[in-house]
Amino acid sequence: MRKVFDETRINRMVLQNRLVRSATWEGMCGEDGRPGLKLASCYGNLARGRAGLIITGYAYIRPDGKQLPGQMGIHTDSFAAETKALADAVHREGSKICMQLVHVGGQTTSRVIGRQPVAPSAAKAEQFPEIPAPLSLQEVAELVALFGQGAARAKEYGFDAVQLHASHGYLINQFLSPLTNRRNDNYGGDVESRSRFLMEVYRSVRSAVGKDFPVLVKLNGSDNLEGGLELEDALYVARLLDDEGVDAIEVSGGTSASGDRTPVRQGIDTREQEAYNLPLAYRIKNAVGCPVMVVGGLRSFELVEGIIRREEADYVAMARPFIREPVLARRWQEGDEARARCISCNGCFKPGLKEGGIYCVVDRIERESRGTSL
Ligand SMILES: Cc1cc2nc3c(=O)[nH]c(=O)nc-3n(C[C@H](O)[C@H](O)[C@H](O)COP(=O)(O)O)c2cc1C
Ligand code: SF4
Repeated sequence: MRKVFDETRINRMVLQNRLVRSATWEGMCGEDGRPGLKLASCYGNLARGRAGLIITGYAYIRPDGKQLPGQMGIHTDSFAAETKALADAVHREGSKICMQLVHVGGQTTSRVIGRQPVAPSAAKAEQFPEIPAPLSLQEVAELVALFGQGAARAKEYGFDAVQLHASHGYLINQFLSPLTNRRNDNYGGDVESRSRFLMEVYRSVRSAVGKDFPVLVKLNGSDNLEGGLELEDALYVARLLDDEGVDAIEVSGGTSASGDRTPVRQGIDTREQEAYNLPLAYRIKNAVGCPVMVVGGLRSFELVEGIIRREEADYVAMARPFIREPVLARRWQEGDEARARCISCNGCFKPGLKEGGIYCVVDRIERESRGTSL
């Protein structure tokens, strides 16, 4: 029996298998963050393809927490009907959906958000042009409350879980990292103080959704950056979350400034290049009692099954393989265990920026050259 296809439970959420669609910005929402039919259809396809849990692209909890075009907003009650329709599209196909909540902090520009970006400190995020404004204590408290409100909306709209985006260099990660957090108050300094913002956000979310609703966290096991968050501190943070009752931790690594060790590495061609965050996830798994998900370069079924069988992680999350093949989980389950067809070229970002939504450009070229209709 293949363990990947075990039915499992995270808190009260029952999952049909251990394959997770990791959060993937789709670029399919309106400029005000309103989701629509295109995104509902994208999630419906993933659910039909039996992705066990679908984590949405990062949804901002306040308009200045936005980074990319077409990103979803969960900052207002006015998208209730359209956001409920996303959950319905997934439930109709028998799968589960989790809303990822984000504030991108200093990793955006005033051109996108119409004001100076905010961050823990006035430390420029590499690759972003502006020096952000440091958050006052009052603003920190407001953001903590807004994460809770975003989570409450997701629950009210029928989502099965929420995930806090605490990785990839965004606001929560900016607080965790000594590189971007130079504060001298209770939110900066040693790892306990740098974790305070995440823990306050976690408690705010937990009190908004109650103890029976799954709250997940995506955490960097390392920022893969000189002076950034490192594994020992990530282990401390993971233990804190576990002690507070987090329902699962998804382990990633890197930020957009991490050179060839970013979260979205290219050219995953060999088995050795796959599962590039597994050493971090495995260390975290051994430090906590909650389920752990590993993400980053998972492509081969045998490797995925082996990771679950050896209990190196409890779930395997993938992003790009599901862009190319929304049917991947069903294909594997039905016995075609060939490697995921994604070639990890990152060509899918561009149509998200320019054409109103991501898609696999390699797949499209291949279909066009075969003369097959889309
Ligand atoms: C187009 C695209 C959009 C992404 N958007 C998000 C996001 O919204 N939130 C997030 O946590 N990670 C995001 N990621 C990173 C993925 O969740 C994942 O961590 C990374 O792609 C590595 O997994 P993979 O090798 O299976 O693609 C995105 C990746 C891609 C390719
Ligand atoms: S464009 Fe297609 S093949 Fe390239 S990374 Fe994206 S999904 Fe994979």
